[in-house]
Amino acid sequence: MSRVVLVTGAARGLGACIAEHLLSEGYRVAVADLDFAASQSLALDWGENAFAVQMDVASEDSVEKGLDAVEQHFGLPWLLVNNAAVMKAQKVLDIDIETFDAVMAVNVRGTFLGCQRFARRLRARNAEGRIVNIGSLAGENGGTATGAHYAASKGAIHTLTKVFARDLAPFGITVNTVAPGPLDLPSVAETIGADRIAGLIAALPTGRLGDPKTVARMVAELAHPSAGSMTGATIDINSGLYMR
Ligand SMILES: NC(=O)c1ccc[n+]([C@@H]2O[C@H](COP(=O)([O-])OP(=O)(O)OC[C@H]3O[C@@H](n4cnc5c(N)ncnc54)[C@H](O)[C@@H]3O)[C@@H](O)[C@H]2O)c1
Repeated sequence: MSRVVLVTGAARGLGACIAEHLLSEGYRVAVADLDFAASQSLALDWGENAFAVQMDVASEDSVEKGLDAVEQHFGLPWLLVNNAAVMKAQKVLDIDIETFDAVMAVNVRGTFLGCQRFARRLRARNAEGRIVNIGSLAGENGGTATGAHYAASKGAIHTLTKVFARDLAPFGITVNTVAPGPLDLPSVAETIGADRIAGLIAALPTGRLGDPKTVARMVAELAHPSAGSMTGATIDINSGLYMR
């Protein structure tokens, strides 16, 4: 039986690209999203190795129920990709506290819950596994266009990755982050405004937006059973905007 992966926020954008790539690599893929209709439609198109799951990553109950549904349908996942997030571009002085909390709830709480609840299940079966968190350039250097809430949430994801990686390393569970810069996806124009895209691209050292497939291939590499010595890392795919 092929290994099972669960990708959150997989109904569109980067999550859908990662899910489709992992499917093409032979994994059975749970397509989890708040937008169940969209995940269902993708899973139907992709066939019997894809399974749509309703999940709000910010809700403890929903994460547990989503994991239960995947286990019942496919079995315990080998890989969790914490990709679901909300992206916001707002000036720091304009951010209201409700929006700040809402971004933190999905991005930080959601990633924490995913890592913790999935790892608990792996440990309960003495199983090894992989976790890949989707971070961001914004979490490294504050980003180019997104807001303080988004950037801070991604910085927190990078830190959560290290703590989970440290604590889970002895058990064959690796935890890594892929941190993209601006990608060639609709969400970028939706977040910063279509009129700012040309300026954004002009400011990229490589002169081009990141290809979501590069991120998807990196996730597959980190997921590989032979990649057990790679943990706690943050992999930059950011068009040269930030170099360590
Ligand atoms: N697009 C970029 O340029 C870029 C750059 C750096 C990092 N990222 C990261 O990549 C990931 C995906 O970005 P995208 O551009 O595909 O975004 P997107 O907005 O196109 O897709 C996000 C998906 O997450 C889902 N989602 C939102 N809240 C959810 C919740 N509470 N529970 C479950 N699902 C939820 C949405 O329904 C949507 O399908 C995010 O973590 C984002 O921060 C994107």
